[in-house]
Amino acid sequence: METRLIKISTENPEADLVEEAARVLREGGLVAFPTETVYGLGGNGLDSEACKKIYSAKGRPSDNPLILHISQISELRPIVREIPPKAQKLMDAFWPGPLTMIFPKSDIVPLTTTGGLDTVAVRFPSHPVAIAIIRASGLPIAGPSANSSGKPSPTRASHVAFDLSGKIDMIVDGGAAEWGLESTIVDVSGEIPIILRPGAITKEMMEAVVDEVLIDPAILSKPSDDLRPKAPGMKYTHYSPAAKVTLVKGDSNAVIRKINQLCASDSAQGKKTGVMATEETKEFYQADVVLSLGKRESPEEIGANLFKFLRKFDFLGVDMVYSEVFPEVGEGLAIMNRLNKAAGYSRIDAE
Ligand code: TXA
Ligand code: MG
Repeated sequence: METRLIKISTENPEADLVEEAARVLREGGLVAFPTETVYGLGGNGLDSEACKKIYSAKGRPSDNPLILHISQISELRPIVREIPPKAQKLMDAFWPGPLTMIFPKSDIVPLTTTGGLDTVAVRFPSHPVAIAIIRASGLPIAGPSANSSGKPSPTRASHVAFDLSGKIDMIVDGGAAEWGLESTIVDVSGEIPIILRPGAITKEMMEAVVDEVLIDPAILSKPSDDLRPKAPGMKYTHYSPAAKVTLVKGDSNAVIRKINQLCASDSAQGKKTGVMATEETKEFYQADVVLSLGKRESPEEIGANLFKFLRKFDFLGVDMVYSEVFPEVGEGLAIMNRLNKAAGYSRIDAE
């Protein structure tokens, strides 16, 4: 299959191009499109066949459900069985935006979309191109991240092309995704909302609206038999570049010393080394490739660069990547959740 690449303006999405993308979706095809978090791989969320194509293009296990994307609040009602009062409050506060909520699903949503579950994940993105395409299609659009399953989520159209060229109908290039990490997922089907995947909308932000919010304890530890994440997708290896990623924890000087020792010994064995550093530390590392995620006090910057850098290390043929760690609060929780998964939970304490 030939994949068409079209560029659409974010400031002023061209109506004719938007309509071309929407037509592909209405006809059962797949279109990758930008959102404010990461690029999504869109298909008709009410059409089992389109959803099967999504699983197959990504190489994704079919028990890992898809998020339905809407372009206005009125599109929510037909796809859910009920809208709990706390969901209404969260939606009033954070939609459109990087928040996905889990609702009991209505009958029109196929089980193929929800990976066999009786619930459905819904998100109303804020990206003008995403909104325009969904609105023009007239459909709820199933949209997982537009990467090959297991690879870091794409934050650029070029990342999507690298993973999915030849496997999907169209890629809409709308520039770089602003947040760079996937949306926060919150389950609102019970009494107290539970965060299943941390993201830009933090626990603290949601607590300002609905008092209490819990976090799925499986988010920061390696999935095990007694600690199984509630979002099926969170149990899979994820975000993994080809390089082996190891996190190094400790005070700044000890971390720099430890990473430099590890890089020296890897180099002696002929390995190419890489470091995910910060603005404060980047000049102190001796490795083949040193990339600065941003300033420590700027988690937005770190989040926006993380997946891009994981892909860049692969592109540069790096074998061993060492990364600093960050406080697990606010947006830092999302950063550490993705870093831990990229590293397969391998972490070294620097003395
Ligand atoms: O930011 C995002 O959310 C991006 C953009 C494209 O919107 N999408 C995205 O989708 O990250 P995906 O499919 O890569 O991740 C969706 C996650 C998976 O871990 C999946 O298991 C979980 O959401 N999920 C989907 N439906 C669910 C449900 N009914 N119950 C629990 N978890 C669910
Ligand atoms: Mg994904």
